[in-house]
Amino acid sequence: MGRALVMGNWKMNLDYVEAVHLVQQLGVLASSRPLEHVDIAVVPPFVDLRSVTSVVESERVPLTVGAQHVHPLESGAHTGEISAPMLRRLGVTWVLVGHSERRQMYAMTDEVVAQTLQSATRQGLAGVLCVGEALEVRESGRHLGVVADQLRSALEGLNEAQRELVTIAYEPIWAIGTGLTAATPQVREMTEQIRVVAQSLSLADVRVLYGGSVNADNAASLVNEGSLDGFLVGGASLKAESFWAICEAAEDCYSGRAK
Ligand code: 13P
Repeated sequence: MGRALVMGNWKMNLDYVEAVHLVQQLGVLASSRPLEHVDIAVVPPFVDLRSVTSVVESERVPLTVGAQHVHPLESGAHTGEISAPMLRRLGVTWVLVGHSERRQMYAMTDEVVAQTLQSATRQGLAGVLCVGEALEVRESGRHLGVVADQLRSALEGLNEAQRELVTIAYEPIWAIGTGLTAATPQVREMTEQIRVVAQSLSLADVRVLYGGSVNADNAASLVNEGSLDGFLVGGASLKAESFWAICEAAEDCYSGRAK
């Protein structure tokens, strides 16, 4: 059985001083209870990455680091953008690709999502492909089809080495930052279909995360439901205690399964 993955997407929060503080707090919590079944990752803003990777390395904090976005090209005249080689050089492991906030607010189309995932994984970054439906899509019953289309357009054409670098995060847009968590049957239905579509594209053992108002109170029931490999956490990842409680919920669930 694989390990769970709990990832904190800080979005546009925490400057580099706050970032270092939070990572140090996580380091203290991790040394008081080492987690054997959970991989932990934080996804800070670009300007925090150098400080965060430095503190992770120097204080041996058991977590990996991701970026929230990357440009598909390696270099060039793209003011304000960051490339995969730049991230690799900083010791970044992961990159979120196609978060709904990028899709909605920055016009990231399915085509650009596919190009970005192609390029990031070609350059050795582990891509967390974010998919999920808007409220009106779910209300009209088209959520499974919409998410399947997002998956196919992003995953088709990856080679085997690239496919191994992919994690999928299901984040229903209506659950992000709203306090409305998807119900466990909704999560199970979608997770199962994500695995079927992924398998049809030769991604047999892909990790599937859930994101959308995950917090210390609901994490255990979500992960215990059984179809998830972990979480992509927004708001609750900004405080060490709440993020750690989510990591522990995943640990408790996975250590129970391992017995
Ligand atoms: P919240 O946990 O704040 O709902 O955010 C989820 C998310 O978008 C993580 O990428």
